[in-house]
Amino acid sequence: MSVRRITPARNILGALRLPGDKSISHRYAMLAGLARGTTKLHNYSTGADCASTLACLRQLGVKVQHDRKTREVVVEGSGGAFSQPADALDCGNSGSTMRMMSGILAGQRIECTLVGDESLSRRPMARVAKPLRQMGALIETSEGERAPLRIRGGELHAIEYQPDVPSAQVKSALLFAGLQASGETVVEEQHRTRDHGELALRAFGAEVRRTKNRVSIAGGQQLQAIEAMVPGDVSSASFFFCAAAIFPDSNLVLEGVLMNPTRAALLDVMAGLGAKVKVLQLEEQHGELIGTVKLESGPLGGARIEGAQAAALIDELPVLAAIAPYTRDGIEIRDAKELRVKESDRIALVAQNLRAMGAEVEEREDGLRVPGNQQLHGAAIDPAGDHRIAMAFSIAALRAAGDSEIHDSEAAGVSFPEFYDLLEGVLER
Ligand code: S3P
Repeated sequence: MSVRRITPARNILGALRLPGDKSISHRYAMLAGLARGTTKLHNYSTGADCASTLACLRQLGVKVQHDRKTREVVVEGSGGAFSQPADALDCGNSGSTMRMMSGILAGQRIECTLVGDESLSRRPMARVAKPLRQMGALIETSEGERAPLRIRGGELHAIEYQPDVPSAQVKSALLFAGLQASGETVVEEQHRTRDHGELALRAFGAEVRRTKNRVSIAGGQQLQAIEAMVPGDVSSASFFFCAAAIFPDSNLVLEGVLMNPTRAALLDVMAGLGAKVKVLQLEEQHGELIGTVKLESGPLGGARIEGAQAAALIDELPVLAAIAPYTRDGIEIRDAKELRVKESDRIALVAQNLRAMGAEVEEREDGLRVPGNQQLHGAAIDPAGDHRIAMAFSIAALRAAGDSEIHDSEAAGVSFPEFYDLLEGVLER
């Protein structure tokens, strides 16, 4: 288990370009596997999660070339039919792989078992299994509707579905199943979640209709291969934006970063807290917005995050909570019960690690309140194998008094293996 020492910094200064977005990489790879023709993806995510998706596709008979150095991925599409895999598909730590792949496999005439690591085997799968069974797939789960999942796919029929929890993974899984079903599948969300599934389906040539929070897709459409550049991962960028925000003289530019409005809510929170955020350039590729963003610090006030905003910021909440002590008025997070069933119980782990650094925290069933104006001290941080907790507390440690030790620091590699090296490059000590 690797331990990384984080020494406090004085400032953040520089410009960076980040590896491709995890959510988009998964979806482009999966749809490329179903499409007709050869898809070329540039700047594919370097995280282990997206490599799990490629490994599953290979086991399903799809030819995939992956050059980790250049981040190029070439997928020879199956045209729509996967082959029977010889072994169980290993989704590793990746909930996105397991849930979205389930949607695709539900429509395939094969029988597969999907397994995951210890963390993934604890996570709830009823949210995908239930609607996919309604569509006609045979899905067996382990006790408590957890992985391993056994899926026998085949003829599906469309359903109209309102997920119980806001989840883009579930929405995408149902749209991917709907693509292979007879009739028109409709997903209606209570809070709108990230829309990469819809945009990716359109990029690969499918017609997807959307009105407010209702998305629908007609079955029987053939996808066509694309060539695409994956925009820089905005959830990975959040760690850097938060780092820049907590030092008085920082100036950080991120180039080519995903600016999809369903993902960029952190920038609104940063601006609301008092950081100076400027979008220097904006363009669109395959329906996704990509921009160059500059963040300069300013005195940070406070924030309360709840409702739709909590759902939109679900992956960014740990780092926001981790920097909250350095704001004037603190940060309160509510309506974020989902954090308890992520790669770890992120509410409990954030509270535990903030307390280890000497902070006062109030833990709630659905969130946290972290008062502002607190000085933290360096501490031993236990991320319990959770990549976003390891990175969030590496950021908090930059302004603490004294060094911190991030145990299990390599967990960051699940989404962002370059994190520590890139961070080192923009720190001033
Ligand atoms: C993701 C959706 C979110 C997020 C995860 C990636 C996606 O999960 O936490 O990191 O790519 O659709 P849920 O769908 O479970 O909310």
